[in-house]
Amino acid sequence: MIVTLNAILETSLQAYKEGKPFAVGAFNVNNMEQMQGIMMAAQETKSPVIVQVSRGALKYAQDLYLVNIIKAGAELNPEVPLAIHLDHGNSFETVKRAIDLGFTSVMIDGSLMEDGKTPSTFEYNVKVTAEVVKYAHDHGVSVEGELGTLGGIEDGVGSGKTDLTDPDQAVEFVERTGVDALAISIGTSHGAYKFKSEPKLAFDIIEQVRKNLPNTYLVSHGSSSVPQDLLDIVNKYGGQMETAKGVPIPALQKAIACGMNKINVDTDSRLAATGAIRKFFVEHPSAFDPREYNTKAREAIAAEVQRKIEAFGSAGRAADVPNWGLEEMKKRYNS
Ligand code: G3H
Ligand code: 13P
Ligand code: ZN
Repeated sequence: MIVTLNAILETSLQAYKEGKPFAVGAFNVNNMEQMQGIMMAAQETKSPVIVQVSRGALKYAQDLYLVNIIKAGAELNPEVPLAIHLDHGNSFETVKRAIDLGFTSVMIDGSLMEDGKTPSTFEYNVKVTAEVVKYAHDHGVSVEGELGTLGGIEDGVGSGKTDLTDPDQAVEFVERTGVDALAISIGTSHGAYKFKSEPKLAFDIIEQVRKNLPNTYLVSHGSSSVPQDLLDIVNKYGGQMETAKGVPIPALQKAIACGMNKINVDTDSRLAATGAIRKFFVEHPSAFDPREYNTKAREAIAAEVQRKIEAFGSAGRAADVPNWGLEEMKKRYNS
């Protein structure tokens, strides 16, 4: 069942308010095996799932291939509530294209300029985000904005208070833009090399934003945990990723207890696939049928996504998600 991001995250927000918090994993998709692995895990655990697509993924897969693979995953698993989400949209045009393709949710990351690298001003962020919200809500589509810039506190990248989200500014941002969900910077970071030492997350910021914005869904980017067992497989079979480090699962669980609703994971699924394929080739040096190693990758992705679903607490919650599709949300935004 394809639903909006609001439908899925409302279930998480209500659970938090009832004192039983859980979050929903948002998993990046670039190809068919990733989508199949995610759906295998969601189906097995009876969990809702957010499938998200970056601009890089849209380009790699010529967008139509990818969107139709995602829609096939939804059709084959009708009891899994699924949101199709644009990850780190950088402009109105990117968002419009995603909505035309049938995405039920978009992120506009106005914390950066259109190049996706240069930090923007608050006023720029408000302007581009508000513009997207107006268009998206007219189409019933959910919107995630971002305030603050990601970066590890400990490793010097993006360090300093100015990069972390200011909880008071978050209120102004949500009021002026009307976003449904807000990605906040709390010390997480994208990729496999997030930190040089154990990360410290700013749980106080999550708590304050949650208090200031009781009805806004909160999002944590850069939340792969870079599991040691996956790294060990990669390194054992020829990889060189010794210094990779992520956000430990207990830290993510604490973030969920503080009110986080959506947890973004891309790197861990990449690590699972890479380890499985490396292992396969070392063990089968004469193999050459892509279906053989892609099967291993798909199974490894499914296992890792299942581990995340269980850690984030969304297993068994599929049936609780309301059927808020685009038409239902158009009515809600207009009322
Ligand atoms: O937030 C970034 C995601 O991991 C997407 O990465 O742009 O390499 O597809 P990508
Ligand atoms: P990771 O690189 O930690 O998996 O983060 C993914 C992400 O935030 C996608 O938006
Ligand atoms: Zn991200």
